[in-house]
Amino acid sequence: MEHPIISIQHVNKLFNTKRHKIQALQDINMEFGKGELVSIVGPSGCGKSTIIRLVDDIIKPTDGTITVDGITYDNNKPISKEMIRKLGFIFQVPNLYPWLTVKENVMLPLRIHGLSSPEYDENVQRLLKYVDMERYADAYPSELSGGMHQKIGVIRGMVHKPEMLMMDEPFGALDENTREMLNIELLHIWQETGMTIIFITHNVEEAVLLSQRVYVMASHPGRVVAELEVKFDRPRTLDLLADRTFGEYCTKIENLIGKIELKQIK
Ligand SMILES: Nc1ncnc2c1ncn2[C@@H]1O[C@H](COP(=O)(O)OP(=O)(O)OP(=O)(O)O)[C@@H](O)[C@H]1O
Ligand SMILES: [Mg+2]
Repeated sequence: MEHPIISIQHVNKLFNTKRHKIQALQDINMEFGKGELVSIVGPSGCGKSTIIRLVDDIIKPTDGTITVDGITYDNNKPISKEMIRKLGFIFQVPNLYPWLTVKENVMLPLRIHGLSSPEYDENVQRLLKYVDMERYADAYPSELSGGMHQKIGVIRGMVHKPEMLMMDEPFGALDENTREMLNIELLHIWQETGMTIIFITHNVEEAVLLSQRVYVMASHPGRVVAELEVKFDRPRTLDLLADRTFGEYCTKIENLIGKIELKQIK
């Protein structure tokens, strides 16, 4: 890739806990082009969340380099506010603030980044509408279902119009229908905004449906074992799920993951 917007080069991450040392990531090399939607799939504990926590500067690598939008992170200093504003992060667990309404929760990143203008207000309304949650704007999180919490968590990560969005299993707790609907909504938002998206999932079908490329990882130590390009036209629809080639992509990835796990058992 000529000018990736996110580049992870030779990254290792060791966690030293009281009981043991864990090599969470071993020699990770990944590149993400501007405007690309790329998924990372792999078994639990292979380091998927760790990768996006590194890109988001929540943690620092043990060694290796991370370069985002032309700036190489200093492993001893936090990244700039300007850089933080370019990044969006959608957590595996949404953790909404119970004392704030749905709308106030969604608007939190705007407050944190000091962004206020009609443009952003409009974006809040638009995103609430996208996930069919307008009616709940003034409700409190305790009044919402688990799926609704996830929807709010997803749009909260996009509200400040980040250039790069890290999504950590954002639809993991949803039933299949809702998940598929939101997958299509995500594709719309992605095409509309041109955001670069790193999408983490356990769900192979979801990865193939959404992505232009898929990184497959293995655990102990966390490493990349394959990189696949998914060649389908856009816009993609749910009809793809019944396509033969789609099934072949899924089987290929499942086999890659399955083989790794088998080897580990032996
Ligand atoms: N702060 C930490 N301290 C110690 N070990 C950690 C820490 N964070 C992650 N790990 C370990 O690093 C490894 C990778 O964790 P990570 O959360 O990145 O996995 P994951 O691929 O996101 O898994 P899942 O699919 O279950 O979310 C695991 O073995 C985990 O126990
Ligand atoms: Mg995780």
